[in-house]
Amino acid sequence: MSEIVSQTPVIPRLGVNIDHVATLRNARGGRHPDPVDAARLAIQHGADGITAHLREDRRHITDDDIERLQALCLETNIPLNMEVAAVEDMAEIALQLKPHAVCLVPEKREERTTEGGLDVAGLHNTITPIIAKLAHCGCRVSLFIEANSKQINASAKTDARVVEFHTGAYANALDVNDDALAQTLLEHLRDGAKQAHALGLEVHFGHGLTFKNVEPIAAIPEAMELNIGHFILGEAIFMGLPEALKRMRTHMATGRGMSL
Ligand code: PXP
Repeated sequence: MSEIVSQTPVIPRLGVNIDHVATLRNARGGRHPDPVDAARLAIQHGADGITAHLREDRRHITDDDIERLQALCLETNIPLNMEVAAVEDMAEIALQLKPHAVCLVPEKREERTTEGGLDVAGLHNTITPIIAKLAHCGCRVSLFIEANSKQINASAKTDARVVEFHTGAYANALDVNDDALAQTLLEHLRDGAKQAHALGLEVHFGHGLTFKNVEPIAAIPEAMELNIGHFILGEAIFMGLPEALKRMRTHMATGRGMSL
């Protein structure tokens, strides 16, 4: 697969996080709904990439799912962004699979979802070799971090090519109508994007993005990719996945002052 070229796109790419199709399937322990079928539909309806998190506790995506997702992505020439905890055994699975991209995330068993960013600065000695191994194997490594100067500088000193900024706190602030806090956090995300870009890192955003909060994020000039899952899949219940994707892409375009 050809490398995705690092230049400002007209509209950021949309990576569709498919994890919660597996959450729904696992609620009954059977095979339906299949996240691979959902990924195929998402690809047919405008997803630029598929994102899936193989958690250490396998609470949603399984090893079989991630292998089948990689096969689908190779077949359709769409990048698979595999999220894993920044630990040796999970990186080993990624090294075997060789997805287009590996996003290293912090992971705690007791958390409901990925809370907070990876402490790249604090964990420098343990994660730098993991990043190097993945990068040397041809995976495009991305680090899921808070938009914080120390973490950005530490990320730039590794072999990672990408940082994905955690938008969860910004999304939560808007959810509770704390517009002042949301604005401050948005400024941090904007400043972080500038800093990361200046250091040669590609900039992605993800977590908690919705039709209501995505436009200011898509408007950030350095934003190359947004990874969005829970909200799109939730809306798919009401309007179907193709329509939910179309609306999200329309909002992303609007954020950039464009139309689809
Ligand atoms: N990006 C990363 C690194 C994530 O961990 C997640 C959640 O798994 C997402 C994006 C997508 O977040 P959401 O499901 O809230 O859209």
